[in-house]
Amino acid sequence: MKRNIVITGGAGFIGSHVVRLFVNKYPEYHIINLDKLTYAGNLANLKDIEDKPNYEFVKMDICDFDAFYKLMQDKQVDGIIHLAAESHVDRSIKDPFTFARTNVIGTLSLLQAAKLYWESLPEKYEGKRFYHISTDEVYGALELTDPEGVPAPFSTKASSENQHEAYGKDFFVETTKYNPHSPYSASKASSDHFVRAFHDTYGMPTIVTNCSNNYGPYQFPEKLIPLMINNCKNGKQLPVYGDGMQIRDWLHVSDHCNAIDTVLHKGVIGEIYNIGGNNEKANIEIVKLIIKTLGKDESLIKYVKDRPGHDRRYAIDNTKITTQLGWAPKYTFEQGIAETIQWYLENEEWMNKITSGDYMKYYDNMYKKA
Ligand code: NAD
Ligand code: DAU
Repeated sequence: MKRNIVITGGAGFIGSHVVRLFVNKYPEYHIINLDKLTYAGNLANLKDIEDKPNYEFVKMDICDFDAFYKLMQDKQVDGIIHLAAESHVDRSIKDPFTFARTNVIGTLSLLQAAKLYWESLPEKYEGKRFYHISTDEVYGALELTDPEGVPAPFSTKASSENQHEAYGKDFFVETTKYNPHSPYSASKASSDHFVRAFHDTYGMPTIVTNCSNNYGPYQFPEKLIPLMINNCKNGKQLPVYGDGMQIRDWLHVSDHCNAIDTVLHKGVIGEIYNIGGNNEKANIEIVKLIIKTLGKDESLIKYVKDRPGHDRRYAIDNTKITTQLGWAPKYTFEQGIAETIQWYLENEEWMNKITSGDYMKYYDNMYKKA
């Protein structure tokens, strides 16, 4: 079936993988990559598909209501996968307004434009989708617990279906109360609420997914894994926040993309699905793994001042999406991280283009006093 789908934030890390998957897998869909090209947007991420006939790039700010409403009309858009966001917690601590603008007002602007356009059609919301990509950070932080005095990680069960090594007894489920701690997560939580409100108030066919930490190729090197690979490769210090015992539930970006594909096509309107890899790691474990893989020395590690409001542990219970929609992650962390490190080593030019210029200003400002 022909569909016209807008993917916002398609020049970013996850967005570019989603665009690639949809352009290649669904030649009958017209994919419109809508992106403002902030510091995080990079069309070089999409070089391999930019000439495909079912792909189009539109440079636009999601806060530009008029422009987006016109695009909905001109392109007869019937699906929106919304990834555009300011996505980095540390930046949100320094500049919360930009996060409120893009993540909250931008999302509201898309919702309102989609509502007005779809409600003007004879078929109204029939066959339409507004799919909002969100984060597990909206749930706040879990305890890092070790009740039996066993050194973490210890075996536990996230549900009857999932068993994995975990750093605590509790997991985020879809009904976990929102409790965001950073300006970033507060802005994402707010956007999630607007999406739900448009479903409940206007009957907008929305779906929301809340995913754990992604890793893989094309991630901007402000985030833990590419930053550590790049620094380690260049013999630079590896800035570990606090004690390095913060836990994240890592998911390969390809697995996230397959989940997005599954949810768009099989997800139930109005529902929320958590996406995670059953793969909890402490930051320091990851840093040491990168050092070992690159054959460097642990003396590169530098424990620095902790991130304010730093969430201790995130961990997703993915039972709902695995049992109801049949999605499951395919990558093991060992395979995924090995491939990812290799990718960054082989794509030096991509990294060098990003880390010249503005990135160094950001880096010095962020880490100089650390
Ligand atoms: P990213 O920072 O790599 O990319 C964000 C993209 O959005 C960039 O291309 C940027 O140019 C674009 N953008 C920013 N502001 C815009 C605006 N006002 N108008 C139009 N485009 C704009 O982000 P990412 O890591 O790929 O995350 C994508 C989405 O997934 C975000 O919504 C994020 O909250 C969510 N998410 C990310 C992760 C993760 O681990 N990275 C995990 C769960 C959820
Ligand atoms: O959980 C999903 C979220 O994961 C997404 O919603 C966010 O967009 C994404 O940025 C990510 O947020 P985190 O804050 O978890 O990711 P980040 O890569 O910034 O940091 C991962 C962990 O590593 C975190 O505990 C902070 C720590 N860290 C990070 C950096 C950049 C360090 O110790 N040193 C660093 O230099």
